[in-house]
Amino acid sequence: MKIGVLTGGGDCPGLNAVIRAVARKAFLNDDEVFGFYDGWKGAIEGKGDWLTQKQVSGILHRGGTILGTSRTNPYKSEDGETKIKKTFEKLGIDALVAIGGEDTLGVAAKLAAAGLPIVGVPKTIDNDLSGTDVTFGFDTAINIAMEAIDRIHTTAESHNRVMVVEVMGRHAGWIALYSGLAGGADVILIPEKPFDLDEVCNLIKKRHARGKSFSIVVASEGAKVDASKDDSFVVQAKEVDEFGHVRLGGIGNLLAGEIEKRTGFETRATILGHIQRGGSPTAADRVLGSRYGVFAYELVKKGDWGKMAALRGQDIVAVDIQEATRELKTVDLDLYEVAEVFFG
Ligand code: F6P
Repeated sequence: MKIGVLTGGGDCPGLNAVIRAVARKAFLNDDEVFGFYDGWKGAIEGKGDWLTQKQVSGILHRGGTILGTSRTNPYKSEDGETKIKKTFEKLGIDALVAIGGEDTLGVAAKLAAAGLPIVGVPKTIDNDLSGTDVTFGFDTAINIAMEAIDRIHTTAESHNRVMVVEVMGRHAGWIALYSGLAGGADVILIPEKPFDLDEVCNLIKKRHARGKSFSIVVASEGAKVDASKDDSFVVQAKEVDEFGHVRLGGIGNLLAGEIEKRTGFETRATILGHIQRGGSPTAADRVLGSRYGVFAYELVKKGDWGKMAALRGQDIVAVDIQEATRELKTVDLDLYEVAEVFFG
């Protein structure tokens, strides 16, 4: 059998573990694996390479993706679907394993509905994909963010400052909530709960009034101000990608300026940015990525098209990609209430 594999969307620690697992399992069964370069772009243009044992060796611990990635959307490029079908015919591809988040898998679902033999693997540091308990990459991202918050703690304390830490999370605040809770943040701001800046400042003032001289605020890049309470606060850039997403960023600096102005406490912002996505995956992400990859190969062998590997409890199960990408998995507000116990 000839199996294609691609990685799409933002990169994520653990992608290489999945590629390696698909390939190693395939090689055990004398199947061939074609790695498409740069996500759907490679599938449209027919660009990639037949993977060898050597190419997938020594990559488990490496961040990024050996195949490259892009945010190319075949449904935004002319005849994208037809071109992918032609690539499959030309290379004799019998199946494709698409590794990606909501956008890449949304395309996979459409192509599978159009009759292409595709299965999916859920990836994103944001952990916002429905249908699975966890996406690989999330564990690495929250550990990087937690370690950064730990480091910020010591400098905040030394300088008696308020420190705002901006983390990734476009529509879902999973990274902010988990890293903030684990790092002992004094305020956590997430996209799911528009915030009132005066309330944030009051929490900080209350904390300082009881003798603390520093505070840590962790904010998702997609955190929004409650417009009914403060419409002067602009937090988004306008530029959009092929999937219609604006490029976020800037909330940290805006918040820092406003907090300093409203509380009088010296405030600084740190934007963690792509550091959260780079570098070595944690053990948990290497194991999860390997399990997803082997399971995706099994879906291929069964011809279970349109399905995605998902974690439910301790088990890897098959779920419908269409269902898993229908809506984003947003933060569990009960967990946010737990974090709120430690605010201020
Ligand atoms: O992969 C999702 C994500 O991590 C978002 O949280 C973030 O908005 C986006 O990627 C940024 O990615 P890039 O800068 O690569 O477009």
